[in-house]
Amino acid sequence: MAYCSRIIGTGSHLPERIVTNAELAQTVDTSDEWIVDRTGIRERRIAHKGETTAALAFQAAENALEAAGISAQELDLIIVATTTPDNTFPSTATKVQAMLGLDTGAAFDVQAVCSGFIYALSIGDNFIRAGQAKKVLVIGAEVFSRIIDWEDRTTCVLFGDGAGAVVLQAEEVKAGDKVGILSTHLHSDGKLRDLLYTDGGPGTNSTVGHVRMLGREVFRHAVTNLAAVVDEALAANGYEKSDIDWLVPHQANKRILDGTAKKLGLSEDRVVITVDRHANTSAASVPLALDEAVRDGRIKKGQLVLMEAMGGGLTWGAALVRW
Ligand code: ACO
Repeated sequence: MAYCSRIIGTGSHLPERIVTNAELAQTVDTSDEWIVDRTGIRERRIAHKGETTAALAFQAAENALEAAGISAQELDLIIVATTTPDNTFPSTATKVQAMLGLDTGAAFDVQAVCSGFIYALSIGDNFIRAGQAKKVLVIGAEVFSRIIDWEDRTTCVLFGDGAGAVVLQAEEVKAGDKVGILSTHLHSDGKLRDLLYTDGGPGTNSTVGHVRMLGREVFRHAVTNLAAVVDEALAANGYEKSDIDWLVPHQANKRILDGTAKKLGLSEDRVVITVDRHANTSAASVPLALDEAVRDGRIKKGQLVLMEAMGGGLTWGAALVRW
C-alpha cells in the first residue's frame, strides 16, 4: 500500500501587539522609508512578556485541527519547527502535546531556522509515506523578538513573532497519482553557518545570545539557492514554472520575493506576500502565509502550490503540493 500526505487543515496565530516601523525609529537610528524601501516590511507582531513559542504554537494548532475537522486525540505525531524554544529542553513540541491534552503519539522539535517548516513538513510527509503515522501536526512557531539585539538596526527591523500549522493526513494512492505533497527537497551547507547565527547558546559561555547576520551575503545566497531548489522540485515532478498556481515563499524580504518570482516568471498576484505585515517570522512565515491564502480562498483544491524557504545554517528547501 502506498500513501501520500494531504494537507487537510491549516491554522495560524499572531500576537496582538503591532510594532510599526515608526515605533522602532523611536529607539534605533532607522526610518519607515529605509525599512520599506530595503525590505518591504511595514510592521511586525511582537509577543508580550509571558507569551511563548508554545503558546503561539498551541493556538495555531487548535485552529488547524478545527479546520481539519479532527480532534487532537487522532494525532500520531507533533513536529514543531522553532529556533526559539520555550526551554533548552524538553522540546516545545512536547509542551504543545501536553497543552493539547495528549499523552499518546510522539512529539519533537526541528531546528532549521527559517527553513524549519519545510524541514518539518518533509519529515512529517516521510513518516506518512513510510506508513509510520496517519495524522501529523506540523507547526512553525517563533518568538524571534527574544533573540534580537534591539540596539542593532541592521537586524532588529527585520523580524517578528507568530505561528502557523498544518495537519497532514495519510491517503492511499496508486502509482502515478499526483495529489497531496508531491515531493520535498532539503539542503544545507554548514560552511556558511557564520553568515547568520546567534552569538550564544549552551555551547558558549553566554546566554541564548542574539541574532548576527551578514545581510548582503545572506541575500545573495537566498536568491541563488531558492531558484535552484525551486527548479529541482519542478523537475522532480515533470512540471514547468508556468504550471505553478501559487508560490508561498518564506517571508524574509520583499526584494528576495520579487527576485524569486521574477526568476520563475510569476506575476506578483501569484505570490502570497505577508512580509509587509508580519516581517520575517522565521519557521512560522510559510505556514502563516499558507493559512492566510487558504482561508481567504486564494488557494483552491487541485491547484499546484510551491513552498520554499532559506535560513541560517545555511539551510534551504522546497515542497511542491497538489492541493
Ligand atoms: N535603518 C537605516 N539604515 C540602515 C539600517 C536600518 N535599519 N540597517 C542598515 N542600515 C545602513 C547600514 O548601516 C549601511 O550604512 P553605511 O552605508 O553607512 O554603512 C546602509 O544602510 C546599507 O547597508 P546594507 O547592509 O548594505 O543594506 P542592504 O541594502 O544590503 O540591506 C538588508 C540590508 C535589508 C539586511 C539586506 O541585506 C537583506 O535583506 N538581506 C537578507 C537578509 C535576511 O533577510 N535575513 C533574514 C534571515 S535569512 C532569510 O530569512 C532568508
